[in-house]
Amino acid sequence: MIELENVSVVFGNDEKKVEAVKHVNLKIAKGTIFGIVGYSGAGKSTLVRVINRLQRPTTGIVRIEDCVLNELNEKELRQKRKEIGMIFQHFNLLETRTIGENVSFPLKYNNISKEKQRAKVAELLKLVGLEDKVDAYPSQLSGGQKQRVAIARALASEPKILLCDEATSALDPKTTKQILELLQHLNRELKLTIVLITHEMQVVKEICHQAAVMSKGEIVEKGTVLQLFSKPQKKLTAEFIKTAFQQEEIISKLLQHTDLKADETLVELAYTGDITNEPLLIELYEKFRIIANVLYGNIEYLQETPMGKLIVSFKGSEANKTKSLAYLKSRGLKVRSLEITTLGV
Ligand SMILES: Nc1ncnc2c1ncn2[C@@H]1O[C@H](COP(=O)(O)OP(=O)(O)OP(=O)(O)O)[C@@H](O)[C@H]1O
Ligand SMILES: [Mg+2]
Repeated sequence: MIELENVSVVFGNDEKKVEAVKHVNLKIAKGTIFGIVGYSGAGKSTLVRVINRLQRPTTGIVRIEDCVLNELNEKELRQKRKEIGMIFQHFNLLETRTIGENVSFPLKYNNISKEKQRAKVAELLKLVGLEDKVDAYPSQLSGGQKQRVAIARALASEPKILLCDEATSALDPKTTKQILELLQHLNRELKLTIVLITHEMQVVKEICHQAAVMSKGEIVEKGTVLQLFSKPQKKLTAEFIKTAFQQEEIISKLLQHTDLKADETLVELAYTGDITNEPLLIELYEKFRIIANVLYGNIEYLQETPMGKLIVSFKGSEANKTKSLAYLKSRGLKVRSLEITTLGV
């Protein structure tokens, strides 16, 4: 659906050059919710603006389906942009216009009768759950409601792609969740391809199918959300992932308060997929006489796939502990011995 080939964007002149996007290659399949994560200044907004050509790439090719954006003239580009809706962090609504007028704004130059426009606006506002606000003004709406209006407006031209630049970062967690659910609904119902920029890994975890991590203009890692969360290859990805789970802090607190005996060892066990039917810890006792005591457990679901983490203390002989760890590894678990002194801080 969207393909970027070796795309770079350079701002400024030779004296003061900013390479906002560097040699980015990206393919986003139709119907995907694709997340782009990165710290401030990473180049996320610039990259996403390249997709609807609000930003012209300095070099590289942008394809939407089979159309090469670089080759379009202004008129063709305007036409093409109707297929690509965009919403922003700060909603960008026209304050002096009603909600209905805001939503119908993109329809204005489409030669659609007033009546049809009204019907379309009603349909869109219903879709985002704001049918009673058609005559209200933006200042009378909450942030979450304004973002819904912005989404309705972006959908007015019946786009195939929706670009969201930090669409939820001005919203509280509950409203964020509602907006994300709405985006997920639109993805499923309208088969909309969504590119979602965010600095919150939590957002990626909630709704994205795939994601890319950006740093200093480059994509440092990309993959399915499950791949990124279960086996991050880059330090930056791991750092972002930690922010989506509050467990690090809990574990560190827990370890501070844990009093281990001399023959006890702490182990972190992580797994992906369904192993809930397997009594692994009991097997450890039966096979190796290791007494495993669970100190912490957590399961998160990533697109229906469970990802679990346990902190367990192992009691038994050192040789049997080693065998136990090898056994758990052979059963597909990720195993890590923890040092209380290093983790408890
Ligand atoms: N029009 C411009 N002219 C010059 N430099 C720019 C321009 N737009 C962006 N930049 C620079 O390009 C880099 C990437 O900016 P961009 O807005 O894409 O980052 P971002 O990842 O979206 O950050 P944030 O999370 O803060 O929105 C930054 O160093 C920024 O200063
Ligand atoms: Mg930005």
